[in-house]
Amino acid sequence: KLQLTLAIIKPHAIKNPVALSYIRQVIKNKFIVIKTKRTSLDVETAGKFYKEHVGKFFYNRLVTFMASGCIDLHVMGHTNAIELWRGLLGPTSVYKGQFQEPYCLRGMFGISDTRNVAHGSDSLASAEREIKFFFPDFSFYEWHSND
Ligand code: CMP
Repeated sequence: KLQLTLAIIKPHAIKNPVALSYIRQVIKNKFIVIKTKRTSLDVETAGKFYKEHVGKFFYNRLVTFMASGCIDLHVMGHTNAIELWRGLLGPTSVYKGQFQEPYCLRGMFGISDTRNVAHGSDSLASAEREIKFFFPDFSFYEWHSND
């Protein structure tokens, strides 16, 4: 059964050609890429996307950063897509990543806990919400429910 996840390559990684080409290779080698889109967010849209973090100390920083440049979206599939992508990213904390898993994407290319390279959905429910957020016409169940 194919599981879907959404990867968002964050603005600082888009501006780093080494990081971007490395991340793209990883995605291409490990997943079936179903949709890809380059876009940019205004502060309001970024705020809506990250609404579960409203009130946290890093919320404003996160939203401003995500609206600061282009982002790449990838809807990608694998039998274990959510866990696989989050594993490749490594811990949210870049500092932790650098020590515990130096070859994870965040360990290699992360700059701070906010500028941590890329986002990955953390559950089936968030994957569905996030894919629909950016691709409202996406036929989620066509891809997801073929068992
Ligand atoms: P992401 O996977 O996009 O989901 C939420 C984001 O919030 C996370 O990656 C980080 O960019 C940011 N974030 C989470 N925790 C912290 C933190 N402790 N300090 C700063 N930013 C954070």
